[in-house]
Amino acid sequence: MRVIEEDICCTKTKVFIGRRALNEAIREIPEDNKIALIRQDSIDPSYIHQNVKRISLEIVLKGGEESKNIENVLKIVSELYSKGFDRSDYLIALGGGSLTDTAGLAAALYLRGLNLVNIPTTILGMVDASIGGKVAVNLKNMKNVIGVFYNPTMVIMDFNFLNTLPQEEFINGLAEVVKHAFTLDLDLYNYLRNNVSSILSRDDALLEEVIAMNVRDKLSIVKMDPYETKGIRIVLNYGHTIGHAIETLSQFRVSHGKAVAIGMVYEAMIGVELGYTKPYIVDKIKEILLMLGLPISLKDVGLGDNVSIEQLKNVVSRDKKIRRGRLAIPVVVDIGSWRAVEVTVEEFVEVFLKCVK
Ligand SMILES: NC(=O)c1ccc[n+]([C@@H]2O[C@H](COP(=O)([O-])OP(=O)(O)OC[C@H]3O[C@@H](n4cnc5c(N)ncnc54)[C@H](O)[C@@H]3O)[C@@H](O)[C@H]2O)c1
Repeated sequence: MRVIEEDICCTKTKVFIGRRALNEAIREIPEDNKIALIRQDSIDPSYIHQNVKRISLEIVLKGGEESKNIENVLKIVSELYSKGFDRSDYLIALGGGSLTDTAGLAAALYLRGLNLVNIPTTILGMVDASIGGKVAVNLKNMKNVIGVFYNPTMVIMDFNFLNTLPQEEFINGLAEVVKHAFTLDLDLYNYLRNNVSSILSRDDALLEEVIAMNVRDKLSIVKMDPYETKGIRIVLNYGHTIGHAIETLSQFRVSHGKAVAIGMVYEAMIGVELGYTKPYIVDKIKEILLMLGLPISLKDVGLGDNVSIEQLKNVVSRDKKIRRGRLAIPVVVDIGSWRAVEVTVEEFVEVFLKCVK
């Protein structure tokens, strides 16, 4: 098991990574504090119940995007209140990114914040959603519009919870691993490239190494730019401008991981067109995505000829990275290095459509 500790703003976050990490990590919760468990229905509760005995409040939510709403946040907050939780108590969020985002927002809002312990049960949750301090829910179909920054005290990445994770969801999360490798970490890229089949067969030791590298990469960026105000954290959005457009245009039929995978390919092409990205990067990204079983083009997910300029402009112009009509995007320069570039929405869409043809 690995332990990584980082101070982010005023929170010391301790991350435990490995099979059966829960058993050791949970001892860090003081005996006299109350524990609320917010868990996802698709996770078998027996393992958490074996390891966490003193649960004063337990709420079960449906997994997935539909449960990411303000009603669930209010339900958690009101039950915490009725059970007399105070700010020194603990809320454990057990589930995928949708659940940790929802329960995390409740933890942030209740009495202006109690201790949050994330236990992610997907790869995406482990390498991305459970660390970094962004918590949010959707309002109708507007994604993540109600949210704050709030860092967890502890994140427990216990591989026992991955036992039931379908392989397709497992692979979806690897898109974010590829993102970290290409933008920030040449060693991670080489490690991934050399161990694809063992990673796909979920070898514990390799998975532990890959997840630890990702956690360090993400936390190093978050620490420098905790509130996304310094233009550094933008790198974590690589592949996401086009990725979000694909999610929206497909009415969320295409998963986040697949959309980001395709987004990374086109954003690499855009980087080449704009003269910032070394041309060989496009083939390198495609190669690793194909090795992992991820899509590389709009056609691979049934989109393509039917995407119009107007639809794209509409979606991209609502990107949260737009300031005064200009879109700031991170581009890969070479494997493991990146820079921010500003373009207008029109320029971005024009170059994108050129790349799609
Ligand atoms: N806060 C952040 O920084 C951040 C970063 C990236 C993504 N996110 C958010 O994370 C969400 C996506 O998270 P996700 O990919 O983990 O998907 P998810 O939480 O929606 O889960 C995907 C599916 O897998 C199921 N599932 C999860 N864990 C399982 C397990 N161990 N066994 C069996 N089934 C399991 C869920 O029930 C669901 O049906 C999105 O809402 C996204 O906005 C947040």
